[in-house]
Amino acid sequence: MNVPPIAPDRLPALLRAMPKAELHIHIEGSLEPELIFALARRNRVELAYPDVESLRRAYAFTNLQSFLDIYYAGASVLLTEQEFYDMAWAYLERAAADNVIRTEMFFDPQTHTERGVSMQTVIDGLHRACMDAKPRLGIDAALILCFLRHLSEEDAFETLEAALPFRDKLIGVGLDSSEVGHPPEKFARVFGRCRELGLHLVAHAGEEGPPAYVWSALDVLKVERIDHGVQSPKDPALMKRLAEDRIPLTVCPLSNLKLCVFPELSQHNLGALLDAGLVATVNSDDPAYFGGYLNENFIQTFAATGLTAQQAWQLAANSFEGSFAEASARRGYIDRLEDVFASFS
Ligand code: ADE
Ligand code: ZN
Repeated sequence: MNVPPIAPDRLPALLRAMPKAELHIHIEGSLEPELIFALARRNRVELAYPDVESLRRAYAFTNLQSFLDIYYAGASVLLTEQEFYDMAWAYLERAAADNVIRTEMFFDPQTHTERGVSMQTVIDGLHRACMDAKPRLGIDAALILCFLRHLSEEDAFETLEAALPFRDKLIGVGLDSSEVGHPPEKFARVFGRCRELGLHLVAHAGEEGPPAYVWSALDVLKVERIDHGVQSPKDPALMKRLAEDRIPLTVCPLSNLKLCVFPELSQHNLGALLDAGLVATVNSDDPAYFGGYLNENFIQTFAATGLTAQQAWQLAANSFEGSFAEASARRGYIDRLEDVFASFS
């Protein structure tokens, strides 16, 4: 769609109102500190911080690992099926308020199963929230199981085995956690098996790690989307590949800022990725930790980088193109996007 320019002061309203898909949200990263403390008290889990304020003060990250250490401690308060439901529901309500109409939520089962929580408890709670999201919030919600890359491939295989009884509650698998030192190749066989099972494949690559990890996510793991991928502009041949094959990148600007991938939001390369013709999208990653849900990512990034209404259209359209929804649903999403843009011009 050709979008006429709109007055800068109307851009935030357009960004809020436009329907969008979120393709990169770790559901455990949506646990707000208040809920972490409420669950810790209920489940008698010891936290390293005495109260909500001191936990929040610890959210001053220097890199990915400094965040992950706190994120896994936060997730350790979850025990029951209802608690997994409540966490997902709290996110879905916020997503609906941001006009998210499709979301593909990551979860990290190994964080829970290694504490003795069953795979069934985790998946049943999250899936029930996804099922309620359509009739009650108007959101199509789906689940992507992520393997933790700092653990072994054998561990990933055991996790896949435990998830197989719930195969029909998952749309795909992903790869997350500490990137540098854990290249995609480490998970070649387990991703091969997931591919045989007909699961969609994604992987975090090029968040802090080199373009070589994006190449191997594509060529060895055969992923359909790259999570982050913001290191890709360091390799012009990789940029050409991503553009030609229309591989979506699920970019997370506030995450990149909080984890010091970029020193300032104004220096973020989202605009450059779009200019290079990549299917870039905007996502919140771990919104409870990084200072904002999806609309906050859009509004702050547009304000800092000067992106336009035309680029807002492109980012929302890319989010639908990059989603794993059926083609007919994707067409319906684009129709709704057109209606909202028409109402603004
Ligand atoms: N797990 C949760 N958030 C993550 C991120 N941004 N990168 C890698 N693993 C993660
Ligand atoms: Zn992530």
